[in-house]
Amino acid sequence: MSFECKPLNGGIGKEVVGLDLENGIDAATSAALKAAWLEHGVLVFRGMGTSPEVQLELSRCFGELDLHPLEKLRLPGYPELIALSNEHGPISPIYEVDGVDLTQRIPWHADLGFTTMPNAGALLRMVRKPQEGGLTGFLDTADAYDDLDEATKEEIADLEAVHLWRNGLEEMRFNKQNVKRKSPFGNFPDFPVVAHPLVWTHPGTGRKVLNVSTLYIDHIVGQQNEKGDALIHRLIEHTLHPRYQYIHDWEVNDMVLWDNRRTMHAAFGHPADQIRIVHRTTIKGTAEMGRLYGEGE
Ligand code: SIN
Repeated sequence: MSFECKPLNGGIGKEVVGLDLENGIDAATSAALKAAWLEHGVLVFRGMGTSPEVQLELSRCFGELDLHPLEKLRLPGYPELIALSNEHGPISPIYEVDGVDLTQRIPWHADLGFTTMPNAGALLRMVRKPQEGGLTGFLDTADAYDDLDEATKEEIADLEAVHLWRNGLEEMRFNKQNVKRKSPFGNFPDFPVVAHPLVWTHPGTGRKVLNVSTLYIDHIVGQQNEKGDALIHRLIEHTLHPRYQYIHDWEVNDMVLWDNRRTMHAAFGHPADQIRIVHRTTIKGTAEMGRLYGEGE
């Protein structure tokens, strides 16, 4: 089975065309898809996600699938799929943004970026789209690293930053958004605080990536001061430049796959009174990142 990778209108990713996912994926195609994922960082499969079975078979080309720790999100009969849906009530906080109540708004981050084992990737399928909004953005942290000037690369080469789980957008320290919480915090376990390298080497490609998840990053180890914060601000501003971004405006049955080690992604949210359902698989991480951060360090 063959396919082509066509340009997308953004700073990362390719659209996969000419692929027939209805009749199984042979080993050669699976290997070629995995190589394309590593090369391009984001792959878009427009209209090809016709069922949970198709999504699962495609996802398995990229590695072992992870079971989501929040069992209530798992799709009955398909434990490796989670449903992110507000059909039966909000699953993520509601925020007032510019006078509109939005849900499923998640700022730029890498999944599990608050742990020492971020997942390798994920594949999202649009099952039901809202009438407005609901877009998802992806950006390239490897190109963002490459474009830094040499002095900055040298300055950050050995620095670590503390990352921690945050319950909500109002707790962010950087790239904070002008939002007002309209619903209570959810119940989440406690996660230990971690220290991650600011620059990480991708285990599959050897490329260096900038590790500045806006949702989780807190401060530079040893520089919990204005200088350290100014550096984080500068790196985030650089990384969020639109030239590194691709924003996907979904149609039902679209699937988007991302390499979580070389990207950040963001869900822009949709009006809380409109229903949006996406199904997601998660590809297990295989490489540790950083370390647990000791209290008082
Ligand atoms: C996610 O971050 O996994 C969800 C993205 C989205 O809902 O668009």
